[in-house]
Amino acid sequence: MSDSLHWIFGYGSLIYKVDFPFEEREVATLRDWERRFWQGSHDHRGTPEAPGRVVTLVRSPGSLCRGIAYRVQHEVFTHLDHREKNGYERHRTRLYLDHREETVSGTFYIAAADNPAFLGDDDADAIAAQITASQGPSGPNADYLLLLAQALRELGDHDPHVLDLEARVRQLLARDAAPPHT
Ligand code: BEZ
Repeated sequence: MSDSLHWIFGYGSLIYKVDFPFEEREVATLRDWERRFWQGSHDHRGTPEAPGRVVTLVRSPGSLCRGIAYRVQHEVFTHLDHREKNGYERHRTRLYLDHREETVSGTFYIAAADNPAFLGDDDADAIAAQITASQGPSGPNADYLLLLAQALRELGDHDPHVLDLEARVRQLLARDAAPPHT
């Protein structure tokens, strides 16, 4: 196989929004990192005045993060560097390809705590309210969360952080859609 191919690990929108060519796709697991809705989004799922929240990874020794690894040409990084330019940087890692039972070198994108758009942790209700209220050029922030939660379910991954936020956001959306009391 050609050396110009690289594995990239998707743990967020890369799982369900695949707008790049790839040679292979594998369910994969990253050790010692956790997915968190701690990155602000003012270019996709929010605006500079009202940022939404999207995922990044935070270090968590012993944790496992499930996602999808794609084997791509190097040019794909140019596309993704532009698509994810709001605070994300490439990070080299080792990845476990679940079905092949093989560990490979790969890359993921991370929005570290020192980037200007980083929001960090908050009360779960506050994060859910922000996601429910936000929208940007790529659409409602709630869609991003619901699509990710569904994609993770299809992978057999039960990420408690994502599922908890999904339940809270669904409740808020249902409340907003209910007719007012007369
Ligand atoms: C991902 O889905 O892996 C991803 C998340 C944030 C930025 C770029 C990629």
